[in-house]
Amino acid sequence: MLLERFPRVSLSHAPTPLEPMDLLRRAIGGPRLWIKRDDCTGLAQGGNKARKLEFLLADALAKGCDLLITPGAVQSNHVRMTAAAAARSGMKCHAVLERRVTETDADYEENGNVLLDELFGCTRSYVPGGSDVAAACAAAAEEFKAKGAKPYIIPGGGSNPIGALGYVACAMELIAQSKQLGISPTRVVHGTGSSGTQAGLVAGFAALKSPISVFGISVRHPRQKQEDMVFDLACRTAEYLGHGGVVKREDVFADDGYVGPGYGLPTPGMVDALTLLARTEGILLDPVYSGKAMAGMIGAIRKGTFDDQEDIVFLHTGGSTALFGYKQLFLKR
Ligand SMILES: Cc1ncc(COP(=O)(O)O)c(C=O)c1O
Repeated sequence: MLLERFPRVSLSHAPTPLEPMDLLRRAIGGPRLWIKRDDCTGLAQGGNKARKLEFLLADALAKGCDLLITPGAVQSNHVRMTAAAAARSGMKCHAVLERRVTETDADYEENGNVLLDELFGCTRSYVPGGSDVAAACAAAAEEFKAKGAKPYIIPGGGSNPIGALGYVACAMELIAQSKQLGISPTRVVHGTGSSGTQAGLVAGFAALKSPISVFGISVRHPRQKQEDMVFDLACRTAEYLGHGGVVKREDVFADDGYVGPGYGLPTPGMVDALTLLARTEGILLDPVYSGKAMAGMIGAIRKGTFDDQEDIVFLHTGGSTALFGYKQLFLKR
């Protein structure tokens, strides 16, 4: 109902499974735990960007564009999935890769997502960490235009009101699945970065008057900045949906206690959480987003933040391809 009027292409294998994590629960105790498998969205090894790209790509095609330009970190999942979406839509893709992580090794530079960018035919240019990536994308677009291309710029992480519609769709899907399973989740926990995933969920749950709240785990910014970004985008997304004003500031929460030394830099808690999930549930997380998100969820459970009678859903946003860019971190164990 909410999304029918928005142009959309089919890219994701949805609904993604919603499954119990009983073995993880047995290992750590606490509330009933579920996992929403958005790592299984199907596009290019899966992940959260498939849902956003369904709406972004439809917009690009409606505008007659033939080239997607987008920024990301060197090991960006968003770039990998955008490159694959472009390939299967007959478009070209160019990525502006920001060197957010310094002191990298050959695997970080060439393996994992970078290897797949190359396979999907995505051309790449590099800018230093902290650069104005929006300006760099605009400059790249001008260069491609001069050569006759019709570029469409997708912002970092696909996070604008069009992309966030993908997570309004996920909110709708989760509500329907919970009903089928006869459960009433109280919270969705996930890693929040460029903010579109959390903003879409918050706007979707608010528009649908759902009591489910979103527990973001920041992977980059301090709490205030992350929450402000999410709130701003959630309000704009709700407006775009035709439900302006439904999002309240108190609907937005982001815990910044699990970022560690910075974006893309490992923490012992992330390594432990990622290893624990692999060895209890046989599910792979990633070092930059879902691993830190899992560390955050386990940390909250250990602090007693959730009631034991709650049903908590961990939204697995994907990213395990990046493991191959961080090989040394895990081989050392
Ligand atoms: C695996 C993974 N999880 C979570 C996120 C964060 O999502 P968002 O950028 O919408 O906040 C990203 C973003 O790149 C991601 O790649």
